[in-house]
Amino acid sequence: MNFRSLTVFALLAASAALADDSPQNAARYRHVVMEGVGDHMKASALVVKGEVGRTADLKAHAKAMNDAAQYFDQLFPKGSGPDVVPKSNALPKIWEDWEGFVKANETFKKASADFLAATESGEMEKIKPAFGALGKSCGGCHDTYRKDEEH
Ligand code: HEC
Repeated sequence: MNFRSLTVFALLAASAALADDSPQNAARYRHVVMEGVGDHMKASALVVKGEVGRTADLKAHAKAMNDAAQYFDQLFPKGSGPDVVPKSNALPKIWEDWEGFVKANETFKKASADFLAATESGEMEKIKPAFGALGKSCGGCHDTYRKDEEH
């Protein structure tokens, strides 16, 4: 490595270290990631219900959700709850019952991996139940750890 590329590398490392991981930014970031996962679910639903004939795309949606599942729980650092970030819908129970929260995320990891495997088979009779189970895994966490949004 020459001196110039070393300098660039050092600068990049420094700016990463200086990232402003304030509770507000952590909550904003998880909101965006959650919405992304939500959109992959919505896109998948259009295909699974047969409203769009793009079955081959399901694998990409499943992969994106399963990738997110791997780091989901890390999006909830201590001190980023509604006491500090009032507009967050995260319930304090997440941090009071961290083990249960991680377990809910394990269920999501497994369900998204199963959905990914089903999409790889390309068989709708496998895809449909796996998609249903995946949806339940989202609800399983939301029911306990997310505030009901007033609609
Ligand atoms: C391990 C727990 C957990 C799992 C699993 C989970 N969520 Fe969430 N989700 C949350 C929490 C907590 C919030 C509220 C975050 C906040 O407001 O700070 C949330 C918020 C959301 C939101 C609203 C955006 C927001 O930040 O308020 C959407 C959309 C969403 N989730 C979709 C999904 C979908 C779709 C799945 C499954 C594919 C899923 N979630 C799985 C815990 C989870």
